[in-house]
Amino acid sequence: MTTQSTALLAGDTQTDGRSASEPAGRGSVIASARGLVKTYGSGDTAVQALAGIDVDFVRGELTAIMGPSGSGKSTLMHCMAGLDTVTAGTVVIDGEDVGRMNQRQLTRLRRTRLGFIFQAFNLVPTLTAAENITLPLDIARRPVDRTHFDAIVAAVGLAKRLHHRPNELSGGQQQRVACARALVAKPAVIFADEPTGNLDSKSSAELLGFLRRSVDDLGQTVVMVTHDPRAATYAHRVLFLADGLLVGELTNPTQASVLEVLGSLGANDLAADDESGVAATSVGH
Ligand SMILES: Nc1ncnc2c1ncn2[C@@H]1O[C@H](COP(=O)(O)OP(=O)(O)OP(=O)(O)O)[C@@H](O)[C@H]1O
Ligand SMILES: [Mg+2]
Repeated sequence: MTTQSTALLAGDTQTDGRSASEPAGRGSVIASARGLVKTYGSGDTAVQALAGIDVDFVRGELTAIMGPSGSGKSTLMHCMAGLDTVTAGTVVIDGEDVGRMNQRQLTRLRRTRLGFIFQAFNLVPTLTAAENITLPLDIARRPVDRTHFDAIVAAVGLAKRLHHRPNELSGGQQQRVACARALVAKPAVIFADEPTGNLDSKSSAELLGFLRRSVDDLGQTVVMVTHDPRAATYAHRVLFLADGLLVGELTNPTQASVLEVLGSLGANDLAADDESGVAATSVGH
């Protein structure tokens, strides 16, 4: 990102009446789950993907979710975002109980209050980059805030690619379109499931840097599932899942501290054996 586009992001924050360093409400809980259980199937074939999760996501923070394959990371995100029903427990987003919403209210929540970035970019192939970015607003029939749009496009470095279709863009550029699309509606929370899973290390670093700046400069809230310890270091906080339970938490993670916890969970072969006890802070209540 250029200095100019950083300034554009900060400038947009100020037109919202907030200072760039102190976006409104930073530090308060924006999304939470209590006693969250998700069971797929029934009887002998039932799989308990989430076994009782209590978690709070804080406004203006980038939270990473890590853990072994099958530990429930995607399920947690889908349940938080109202993309999947829960078996038991409650999910509250921005003060609203997601479990009490009907389909119409859920759709509205997803369109107006949430942003999504997935591993597969999920762009519409027949639309240009610009049209893909404004799609959520167009579907919700909300006007495009051009200043905000221009700031985001500049920040993700897409100004010269706006009229290209996805198949004319690199993987990194496509993921940046997906990222801009998630940000353009100023959602309460962006949920990202392995957003850098298909990117090379340079594109990953660019995307993660951009996501982190959207948090620091705009007060955006981002929850991101990742397998990559380097990606996790962009987060303020990392939550660790194992077997559908929250088993650890790190604030201000480093690659070493993340690897240490993952090693203790058996999620990463690279982590050295550690007999000195592991830094996984218990978050049990
Ligand atoms: N639609 C489904 N039907 C049945 N079981 C499912 C379904 N979706 C997920 N599961 C199971 O729930 C558990 C948690 O899956 P989930 O996709 O949340 O894991 P994950 O932590 O995201 O894994 P990965 O790192 O591989 O993406 C797994 O055992 C999985 O097989
Ligand atoms: Mg997953």
